[in-house]
Amino acid sequence: MAKFILIAVFMVVLITNFASSEVAASSGVVVGSSNPKEEGNKLAMVQEEEDMDGGFSSLDGMLQWAIGHSDPGVLKERSEVAQRMSPEELNKRQTELKELMEKLKMPSDAQLMLIAVNDLNNSSLPLEHHLRALEELLVLVEHIDNAIDLQKLGGFSVLVRILNHSVPEIRTAAAWVLGKASQNNPIVQKQVLELGALTMLMKMMKSHTTEEAVKALFAISALIRNNVNGQSLFYQEAGDTMLQEVLSNSNLDIRLHKKSLFLIADLAESQLENENTAEVSFFSNRLLLKAIVDSMASSDLDLTEKALYAIKNILLLRSTEVQLFKDFCKLNEVLERTRQQLNDHREEYAMDVESLRKEVNLTFLQKLNKVTQAAL
Ligand SMILES: *[C@@H]1O[C@H](CO)[C@@H](O)[C@H](O)[C@H]1NC(C)=O
Ligand SMILES: *[C@@H]1O[C@H](CO)[C@@H](O)[C@H](O)[C@H]1NC(C)=O
Ligand SMILES: *[C@@H]1O[C@H](CO)[C@@H](O)[C@H](O)[C@H]1NC(C)=O
Ligand SMILES: *[C@@H]1O[C@H](CO)[C@@H](O)[C@H](O)[C@H]1NC(C)=O
Repeated sequence: MAKFILIAVFMVVLITNFASSEVAASSGVVVGSSNPKEEGNKLAMVQEEEDMDGGFSSLDGMLQWAIGHSDPGVLKERSEVAQRMSPEELNKRQTELKELMEKLKMPSDAQLMLIAVNDLNNSSLPLEHHLRALEELLVLVEHIDNAIDLQKLGGFSVLVRILNHSVPEIRTAAAWVLGKASQNNPIVQKQVLELGALTMLMKMMKSHTTEEAVKALFAISALIRNNVNGQSLFYQEAGDTMLQEVLSNSNLDIRLHKKSLFLIADLAESQLENENTAEVSFFSNRLLLKAIVDSMASSDLDLTEKALYAIKNILLLRSTEVQLFKDFCKLNEVLERTRQQLNDHREEYAMDVESLRKEVNLTFLQKLNKVTQAAL
């Protein structure tokens, strides 16, 4: 019985919403896109979690939404009718409804994306339509197949174009969608890079709204992660200066510091894996190195850990000038200060960070020894 009423309610909703001419264009409904991407890395998982929000990831959520948006009078009337029916009548109605539901068919993801892209591309539509279209795309592009379909629909050129929108919320949401779609997806990365998104995203880092800068940095990282071309472009566009400025500005949101350190560790790792390609001067920017080292002494354990990872990876690079770490960054002193700070923490996590700190100290001393001996 309860199940039947649920179906009946659902049907009313389907008929009143989906059969109307506005259909999914105005619905904000997204179904079947709960496919979290695999992430081999704990840090990446944490970051991914931080970035999740909004959208309908389940049918249940959609139903709640649909009920909230339909005419309560109609719903009440329908359920009262249902309560007066005999079991036979109910069975018959149930069969009819099932058949009707199959006929109605939900719109496919590709159709939803097409509608969203058309809405986004239509500047005469009000702002809410654009925001809703972006929200829908945000959920849809989590599916790797959808991200590739979106490319075929010409969606990325529209998204990149609106990175230049005059409203910060629109720019922010567009960056978020582009980042989501580019994550672990070389095909999308390539196209979005070719459309010139990186320069625009880097410009967005200067935004006065924190959320815009956070989403821009998220998108930058997603675009250049494991992507050698994207990384070269980032280096050409003075990515080192951009990251150094973020890390040196203590007024900025801590999420920006964390994301920057995460990206730096990732870039160094990428260089380690491609030792044959000419190493860029990125990690000889002494101001950047100093900003990374100084981040280590934060009272935020997570930030300390991310800084340590970044330093470890940079120290492993052949071209790194270890003397710079010693003389200019005062790595010795900051490591010692961090040791004392970690001592004050009681969490188990602090012990993990401390062992990473010891590892960095060791790597540092070994590299320093090598250089000193070579000089003898
Ligand atoms: C843009 O939206 C307006 C208002 O809904 C509509 O009249 C117009 O046809 C749309 N333009 C395109 C190109 O779809
Ligand atoms: C966006 O609209 C323009 C015309 O205003 C059109 O030329 C272009 O093809 C549209 N792009 C997409 C992806 O729909
Ligand atoms: C961004 O907007 C400015 C002016 O609003 C315009 O001059 C510039 O060409 C636009 N850039 C892109 C990539 O659309
Ligand atoms: C670094 O390691 C060396 C050798 O184990 C040790 O003597 C030194 O105290 C360590 N320094 C810090 C800051 O942990």
